[in-house]
Amino acid sequence: MVCLGNICRSPTAEAALRREAERRGVDVVVASCGTGGWHAGQGADARSVRHAQQRGIDLKAHRARQLHDDDFDSHDAIFVMDGQNLRDVLARCPPAHRHKVRRFLDDDADVPDPWYGEADGFEHVLDLCEAASARVLDALMPRRN
Ligand code: 4NP
Repeated sequence: MVCLGNICRSPTAEAALRREAERRGVDVVVASCGTGGWHAGQGADARSVRHAQQRGIDLKAHRARQLHDDDFDSHDAIFVMDGQNLRDVLARCPPAHRHKVRRFLDDDADVPDPWYGEADGFEHVLDLCEAASARVLDALMPRRN
């Protein structure tokens, strides 16, 4: 899961996908990072932590890190939160791994950056990430009933 700062959207997406996978008994390894490194080493944004906590999602252990060249090789799928992330990631992505890079949301939609906004923006990120996690797992591993 990739966003800009790795303190709001992608940590939320990482935790939402992990929780949905656990609910389904699906074994996946999920990680997140930012295209930018300004917040590397920091915890998730306090607002993200608080809103996630209200849904039983714990972001307290998160530590931000920047996208690394090894990420393209070591992950099977790379989900980006918005169109700028898509451009930034593709600009660094080796040709052999470009097929792994896709938006987390359907229809070229963005998970909007909540950083400058209000509480409802953080709730919206959670709503989008929870819905997208279910869709991604449906697509990758369809339920057999
Ligand atoms: P994120 O949000 O990309 O969802 O983690 C942001 C975090 C920090 C900044 C921008 C977006 N920033 O400008 O520092």
